[in-house]
Amino acid sequence: MTGSLSAEDWSEELEKKMEKRRIGVLTGGGDCAGLNSAIKWVVKTAFDDRLRKTRKIDYEVLGIRDGWKGLLWPDGDEDDPTPRVIHLTEEMVRTWDRYGGTMLGTSRTNPYDPKDDRSRLVAENLDKYHLDYLVAIGGEDTLGVAHRLYLEGVKVVGIPKTIDKDLAGTDYTLGFETAVNVITEEIDRLRTTAGSHRRIFIVETMGRHAGWLALEGGESSGAYIILIPEYNFEIDKVCDLVTEGRRKGLRYEIVVVAEGAKPAGYSEIVKENGIDSFGHKTLGGIGEFLAKQISDWAKIETRSLTLSHLQRGGVPCAYDRRMGRYFGIAAVDLIVEEDFGKMVSYQNGRITAVPLREAVSKLNLVDVQTQYDTERYNGRRTILGS
Ligand code: F6P
Repeated sequence: MTGSLSAEDWSEELEKKMEKRRIGVLTGGGDCAGLNSAIKWVVKTAFDDRLRKTRKIDYEVLGIRDGWKGLLWPDGDEDDPTPRVIHLTEEMVRTWDRYGGTMLGTSRTNPYDPKDDRSRLVAENLDKYHLDYLVAIGGEDTLGVAHRLYLEGVKVVGIPKTIDKDLAGTDYTLGFETAVNVITEEIDRLRTTAGSHRRIFIVETMGRHAGWLALEGGESSGAYIILIPEYNFEIDKVCDLVTEGRRKGLRYEIVVVAEGAKPAGYSEIVKENGIDSFGHKTLGGIGEFLAKQISDWAKIETRSLTLSHLQRGGVPCAYDRRMGRYFGIAAVDLIVEEDFGKMVSYQNGRITAVPLREAVSKLNLVDVQTQYDTERYNGRRTILGS
C-alpha cells in the first residue's frame, strides 16, 4: 500500500520527531550509601525505552564528577586533570546500586563561597555542555546551592541524601538507614568486650546538629544512654545513671553520644578550628571528653570509640538501595513534568516532592517533647502523645 510504513520506518520517523534533552547528575557533600542507586535509576528511567516513546523526548544523561567542582572546572583542574563531565549509559550503571560511596565522586565545593563566589561559572558550563536539566543529589549544602541556581533560572531538581537525616520536607534521606545499621553492628561487637571487662563504652556518632543517628542508632542497639544535640545533658546525671546501672547489676553500659551533643553550660566540641566554605565547624571529641568525666567522677573504667566515617561507608542496606531507586525515578518524573525547583521526598509512606526552598529553609531535628526521654536520657518508652 502506498504511503504505508514498515515497523522500521515507523521507528525512524519517531526518532526524527524525538526532542533531544540532556540531564546532568551530580552528588555533593559527604558521601553515603544509596547514592549510586539514585544515579543508576536516574539513568535507567531517563533511557527507559517504553517511557521514551510516550514522552517523545530522547534524554541523554551526563554524570558530573566531584559535586559542584565538576561544574566549576568541568575540564579538570590541577587536583585532577581528567574531564569531569562524562556520558552515562545503562550498561555503565547496571551494577552501581550494590556499591557504597559515589561513583561520580563528591566534594564540599561551594560555588557561592562568600570568600570566592564563582557561581556564574556553573550557569556558563551548563550552557557549554548543553545541559538542559540538573539532578543534584545532596544534603542541606548541595541542595542549598541547587535552590539558588533554580532562583537564577536553572532547571534543577534535588534528591535528599545525608546520614544526618536533617533535611526538612522529607522523612527519609539516603544513607541514614545504612549508617544506623553500621552503628548497630559496631555496638553489637563492642558489647562482648565491654561485658568481659565491665567497662563503660561511649560511642560517638556523627549527625552534626541533629540527633537522629545517635537516637535511632542507640535505640536499634539498645544503648543504655543516648545523648543528642537537641537536649543539653548534665554530666552528673549521666554519672548517676551509670552508677545506678551498676547497682542494679549491669556489667557494662553503652552510651551513645552524638558529635553535636553537649553538656549544659558547654559549647559543642570541635575537632578542628575554622569553618568550611558552607560555614560548618568540624565537630568531634565529645565521646572522649565524656569518657574522661565519667572515669573521674563515677570511678568506673570508661573507654570511648568514635565511629566517624565508618558510618558513611560500606555497602548500602536494602532500604537505601530501594529508596535510591524510588528517588531516582521520581527525579526524572519531575523533569518530565517540567516541575523544577523541587526535591523528591518521602512523606507519610509516599514518594512525593517538596519545594527545595522548604527542604533547606530549616533543619529537621529530633522533637525532644515527643521523641526523647529527658529523665532516662534515651528514646521514649511510650508512644502516647508522640
Ligand atoms: O553531613 C554528614 C557528615 O557525615 C556529618 O555527620 C559530619 O559532621 C560531617 O559530614 C563530616 O564531614 P567530613 O567528611 O567532611 O569530615
